Amino acid sequence: MREGIHRGSDVGEGVLTPDVNAAESKAVNAARAPSTGFVRDGAALLCDGVSLEAIGAEVGTPAYVYSAPAIRSQYGRLSAALDGLPNRLHYSVKANSCLAILDVLKKLGAGVDIVSGGELYRAKLAGFRGADIVFSGVGKTRRELEEALAFGVLLINVESADELELLNLIAGEMGILAPVALRVNPEVLVDTPHPYTRTGVKGMKFGIPFDETLVVAERALALKNVTLMGIDMHVGSQISDFQPYEIGLGRLLQLRKEIGAVGATELRYLDIGGGLAVTYDAEHPIDIERFGQGLKKMIQPTGLDLILEPGRFLVGNAGVLLTRVLYRKHSGGKDFIITDAGMNDLLRPSHYNAYHGIEAVTPRGGKIVADVVGPICESGDFFGLHREVDDVEPGDLVVVRSSGAYGFAMASNYNSRPRAAEVLVERGRYGVATEREDYSDLVRKETLEPVWRPA
Ligand code: LLP
Repeated sequence: MREGIHRGSDVGEGVLTPDVNAAESKAVNAARAPSTGFVRDGAALLCDGVSLEAIGAEVGTPAYVYSAPAIRSQYGRLSAALDGLPNRLHYSVKANSCLAILDVLKKLGAGVDIVSGGELYRAKLAGFRGADIVFSGVGKTRRELEEALAFGVLLINVESADELELLNLIAGEMGILAPVALRVNPEVLVDTPHPYTRTGVKGMKFGIPFDETLVVAERALALKNVTLMGIDMHVGSQISDFQPYEIGLGRLLQLRKEIGAVGATELRYLDIGGGLAVTYDAEHPIDIERFGQGLKKMIQPTGLDLILEPGRFLVGNAGVLLTRVLYRKHSGGKDFIITDAGMNDLLRPSHYNAYHGIEAVTPRGGKIVADVVGPICESGDFFGLHREVDDVEPGDLVVVRSSGAYGFAMASNYNSRPRAAEVLVERGRYGVATEREDYSDLVRKETLEPVWRPA
């Protein structure tokens, strides 16, 4: 966290931006900077050659704008780093479930990691086959398990002994063998930016507690309708070092030996989840080459196939939230910039105290220190507090950077605000991938008077 900047909430305060020398880190990042698709041409910000001013004028605001080439570039970097190691990249749909983005990734050869029946539905619409899908999630319902089995998913990442029993029951009813990976809680303490993204720590709801995994594995081997094909973990999100993966993977490999010793013969997949970090501010991005080398060293001798579930790494920096300044105001000794996007569009600053860069699309010159806030009736509705930003006027367009992951995907209709449009940019052209919602969409499932039923 940088000095003098208040980010507005107590939860996670002080851990958002790792304590690094910002200037040095920025220089390192610039040297290694992957393409985000967003570059300035003179003053104006363009996305792959397309003017954000034009998109703002034609599509309206707020709108999410994504660069397809930037997503491809990240995918390419990750595949290249893993070259030589049998691996499958299963994009984590929760990060950004826009169908047009799923299509971009599918055409690159990615699979998907899903966590709900809704994500399965999206994956099917985007043309993924069952064999392209791994199904994660701590609370899968009977319906979701049935749908996943019926579609023939590659793996169901089971997170508890209870889930394993239910899955066995359902598979028996369906007369099929359920392909299972056990999601283990690797119990690795990671320095993620916020406690909410620290999933692989002892005592979290995720995964099977490490010391119970062998018992659950033995049970899986004994059950008739499941086949134990993999072990799985997810250490957390926004991880910049290989070390947590190394520790977690070490545990998984130890477990693999133990499971092998009690009779597992079908074990083929080692799923190490997602979590690779991107740069929001001054963080070190993960050194992807080192990450790849580390994995190769540990996994190649095992003969197992690696599964990775990257979300943020593929799409995080490839998107911005485009919003228009509605008003300026001075109150309580502070300057406010009030935008037409709010926390319902991008929840991360409010929910995780997360830092996102904020820039004018066409800067007028000059800087001010201001709170950049949305129109929602909540004090927590902000994108940046006490932030040095471009001096802007009502009507100007502003981007909230690095909003490609967990942006639109976490949007809501709070304050009865229709959700924003999503726009995909290809070199030199753009298309509306998701239309802006109308007021009628807000009440589509509602009725003035419910149909009463006797109790
Ligand atoms: N696999 C599993 C099992 C996960 O739970 C997640 C993310 C991923 C993969 C993808 O993680 P990624 O590569 O995107 O870090 N809303 C939060 C992040 C929550 C991540 C939840 N799980 C945020 O905005 O930072």
